[in-house]
Order: sequence, then C-alpha cells, then structure tokens
Amino acid sequence: MNLPTSPAAERNKQPILEALLGVLGPQGTALEIASGTGEHVVWFAGAMPGWQWQPTEGDERLLPVIDARIRHNGLGNVQAPVLLDVTATPWPLAAHGFDAIFCANMLHISPWASCAALMDGAARHLRPGGRLITYGPYFDDEMPTAPSNLAFDADLKARNPAWGIRRLDAVAREAARAGLALLGRQGMPANNLLLVFGSAEP
Ligand SMILES: C[S@@+](CC[C@H](N)C(=O)[O-])C[C@H]1O[C@@H](n2cnc3c(N)ncnc32)[C@H](O)[C@@H]1O
Repeated sequence: MNLPTSPAAERNKQPILEALLGVLGPQGTALEIASGTGEHVVWFAGAMPGWQWQPTEGDERLLPVIDARIRHNGLGNVQAPVLLDVTATPWPLAAHGFDAIFCANMLHISPWASCAALMDGAARHLRPGGRLITYGPYFDDEMPTAPSNLAFDADLKARNPAWGIRRLDAVAREAARAGLALLGRQGMPANNLLLVFGSAEP
C-alpha cells in the first residue's frame, strides 16, 4: 500500500488507543474530526470492534487516502470518510448522537476559531453522557513548558500566524461556553495531553 503516512500518527496511535480504552466503554459510535491520513481511525477501529467509527476531514484531498486505508484494512466498523470543516455549520452528518468524538492535532494547526467550532459541534453531536476527546500539545500552567513545544509553537506561527499551540485554560473556557466541562486530562508521550470533555450539566 503506497499511501501518505504520518510518522507522528504511527508513533502515537498505540498510546492514544490505550488511553481511549481507559476512557470509553466496550461499544458505541465514534466521530473522528480531522482524520488526516486515517492511520488513527483504522488502528482504533481494528482494536475496538464494538465501536462504529465515522472519520471526517476538512481537506478533501485526504478523503481518498482515508477511504483506501479503510478498505486496505478490511474494516467493517468504519464508515466512508465525510468532508467536514469544523467551522462550517451544520456539520454534514446523517447521525447526530455520538458516544465519542475524537480530534487529534487540529487545534494548533488551524485558526483559533476552530476551537469554538469544535466545541459547539461536539455539544450538538454528542449523546447525553458522550465524551469529546482531544489529543495534542497544549500550554498549561500546571506543567513546565517543554522546550520542544516552544520550538514547535514558533515553527507553527512562522508557517501561519493564525496557528500555534493553544492554552489549556483557553480551550477549557471555549468548552465551558459550549456546555462541555473538562472532566479529565492525561499526560501522553512527547509532551502531549489527552483531554476528556463531557456535558457540564449534572
Ligand atoms: C496535523 S493534522 C492531524 C491529523 C490526524 N488527526 C493526526 O493526528 O495524525 C491536522 C489536520 O487537521 C485538519 N484540519 C485543519 N483545519 C480543519 C478544519 N477547520 N476542519 C476540519 N479539519 C481541519 C487538516 O486538514 C489536517 O488533516
């Protein structure tokens, strides 16, 4: 199979899977935002047969890549990828209630408005009790800033001034505005965090 790959996704897919298994139950429906090359969704779907996955991507050029990867892996629990830009409303999805929404490494490689859009969309599309799970680097006062993340942030801003590593408290504020509370955070390899959000209502 000669498809584009992401070395980072190959490195982090197993640690993320292990974190997801600790957060999610044995079955459900999951929406992936910004699926990229599709390496995450096929890895998770293969290891979580009780879950139905819906990959999505904002860059239409990646849809055939994701589709080919799903077919190559012969997975029956992954739907065909959908073109979905988080900042466009409504989200073009047939299903409205997902048990989980997963989004890795998008918030720092898109303008800040994508954070509010992700939170609003997740609040609309999560079932009661559902979880939004984000993964990536964040700046957070509770942990020392890794030099590698500072360098990554500078590189992102040089590529596009609207990009950059987001502050965890700012992301949590956008979530709260949309009605989602930060329920958990887990340190991940290479100075990344996995964040878990759920309904702020009791
Ligand atoms: C660094 S890649 C991460 C891909 C994959 N989630 C991973 O972790 O390997 C960032 C992805 O976010 C997507 N993206 C950026 N802005 C977006 C938006 N507004 N809506 C949906 N996807 C977006 C890009 O097209 C790209 O595929």
